[in-house]
Amino acid sequence: MASQSYRAGLFWSQLVRCTTLGQTRTHPGRYLSSLHPPPPDSWTSQLSLLPHQDLYRLSVTDPDRFWGSAAADRLHWVEPFQQVQDCDLSRGRINWFLGGKLNVSGECLDRHAKTEPSRTRLILVRDLCSSPVCPSIRELLETTCRLANTLKSHGIHKGDRLAIYMPVSPLAVAAMLACARIGAVHTVVFAGFSSDALAGRIQDAQCKAVITCNQGVRGGRLIELKATVDAAVKNCPSVQHVFVSQRTENPTMMGKLDIPLEEVMSSESAVCPPESLDSEDLLFLLYTSGSTGKPKGLVHTQAGYLLYSSMTHQYVFDYRDGDVFGCVADIGWITGHSYVVYGPLCNGATTVLFESTPVYPNPGRYWEMVERLRINQFYGAPTALRLLLKYDESWVKKYDRSSLRTLGSVGEPINHEAWHWFHSVVGEGRCPLVDTWWQTETGGICIAPRPAEDEAPIVPSMAMRPFYGIQPIIIGDQGEVLSRPSVSGALCISQPWPGMARSINGNHQRFIDTYFTPYPGYYFTGDGAVLSEDGFYQITGRIDDVINISGHRLGTAEIEDALDEHPAVPETAVVGIPHEIKGEVPFAFVVLKDDVSVNPTTVLQQLRELVSTKIAKYAVPEHFLVVKRLPKTRSGKIMRRILRKVAMETTCDLGDVSTLDDPSVIAEIVESLEQYRKQRETK
Ligand code: WT7
Repeated sequence: MASQSYRAGLFWSQLVRCTTLGQTRTHPGRYLSSLHPPPPDSWTSQLSLLPHQDLYRLSVTDPDRFWGSAAADRLHWVEPFQQVQDCDLSRGRINWFLGGKLNVSGECLDRHAKTEPSRTRLILVRDLCSSPVCPSIRELLETTCRLANTLKSHGIHKGDRLAIYMPVSPLAVAAMLACARIGAVHTVVFAGFSSDALAGRIQDAQCKAVITCNQGVRGGRLIELKATVDAAVKNCPSVQHVFVSQRTENPTMMGKLDIPLEEVMSSESAVCPPESLDSEDLLFLLYTSGSTGKPKGLVHTQAGYLLYSSMTHQYVFDYRDGDVFGCVADIGWITGHSYVVYGPLCNGATTVLFESTPVYPNPGRYWEMVERLRINQFYGAPTALRLLLKYDESWVKKYDRSSLRTLGSVGEPINHEAWHWFHSVVGEGRCPLVDTWWQTETGGICIAPRPAEDEAPIVPSMAMRPFYGIQPIIIGDQGEVLSRPSVSGALCISQPWPGMARSINGNHQRFIDTYFTPYPGYYFTGDGAVLSEDGFYQITGRIDDVINISGHRLGTAEIEDALDEHPAVPETAVVGIPHEIKGEVPFAFVVLKDDVSVNPTTVLQQLRELVSTKIAKYAVPEHFLVVKRLPKTRSGKIMRRILRKVAMETTCDLGDVSTLDDPSVIAEIVESLEQYRKQRETK
């Protein structure tokens, strides 16, 4: 390290520009050194003097130095790492901070409990507007330890997998951190998924236990979580225990696998030493949809993920010590993992857990919460904004939003109307709005403005700028790198970064095939992007068969698989079409068996139920169109591109149809669609 720091010092002396103290309060390098002063000979002390453009350049030209410095400064290592990275994207080999040992729950809890034990770090905002629940960091640590000890007493140890099927709550956060504490691997399953979807994930991950609640409460409605878990675990022989927390007062039927969580926790010790874990030990699996096959369990590991989520949390949102961070995502998605739990807690932020919906009990819900909790950063999804902007502005304006400093948007493209409403009405035009692009696979934000560092104004509806260490690249149809502005292509990332997923659970080859084979040597995102004249990135949307319904990602193939299970349905094709509020909705083309006994109305109803039980309610197609046949190429491949145009009624521009086996199929489908529209209008 010593000789490296000496060389680094020389290297940096050429880059360093004089900056005056105070001018760069949120300057990354200065933060790095001010929070935990590095030893005088550390090369990170040099980092502290760099302006951010240079820091970005450095982060991509010398990633080892950049990330090595950040990891050494920001995380507390039980054993220091020996090597910053060992990565080969073409083989999907990704390892960061080799040889290092730490504990993620120690970073998120113990570290802060030591300095300010009584400070609140979690605020639960309940479905009904009663007073928020605000556990101190010490209480959260104790709950986590009791839960960790409970898991251990039930035979759960390092490397074991657990499913968490719970809505956002302090106990759910404690469950994630308890797993992290003992080295167990959590897989949080969004509590809106059906029992079949839950069972599929439990089976794939081979979970030894499930943690759930008796019921959930959302938007004034009860959600039968335990009943869903009961149905799921019937088909999951790996599950030995189901820990049931009592969220509501209603009695719960307890079966032979079930363990009352609060009761057993109360007899466990509130102290549980954190396990020392390797940087690359698994932290969690999170399932997400792809364009083909079953959902993939993406693997995230310890140190790199934590470093990346905490750094992005700080710099993208201009997080400052003492801020209250309000991310309204559910913990069942990666946004909840990185920006409700791990990123904010690692940074010592007070993080908000929002149990309700944006319109319950009224459309002022978010802003009432902002006023009451004095939230400094508000991070939400465009779909909710599109819903809220339909209501009168007084729902926003009657609440004091002066605490807000940064607004953030995530999960799907934010259209201009929503962007301007969020920026001008909610943020009174004074808060920077960051459109953050990233994915379950990336672990944290990859492209987003960083307003605290940039003088350049934010361009509406543009993710704009890569984060430190992220080198985006846009690739054309022929595999050529597009460097000219205004030409759209496939968005790839050319260098590894610490937060990226390491594998797909149980199928590393699928990981390689999905992300690293389409454009060898690069990580392929599945999204399209375009570079503006000013050198900013704009995301154009998915270029594969993945759709985004209210910010929830779903493969059209998954919906088709569910529909195809119906015996009267030989074939289906699902495409996504734009929707005013949800962003996109599924549109299903269905071929029915040519049989007099088949009643289309009954079958369509059964199809709706099938999707709802196989996947989730939100996945049920908005439209079903019964057609005689589907457009196919001569080799039998369904041409979804054409179906998308038909569904969007843009058939005047069908593109190349020369590969169609029988072009007359188009007129046939258009006719069915016209009838369908007429029927809907008369209804
Ligand atoms: C997909 C990832 C990011 C965490 C939540 C969703 C789309 C995400 C944006 C954005 C345009 C976006 C992409 C991406 N997406 N953010 N700011 N602008 N599109 O994570 O479920 O893994 O979905 O969401 O298509 O690939 P996810």
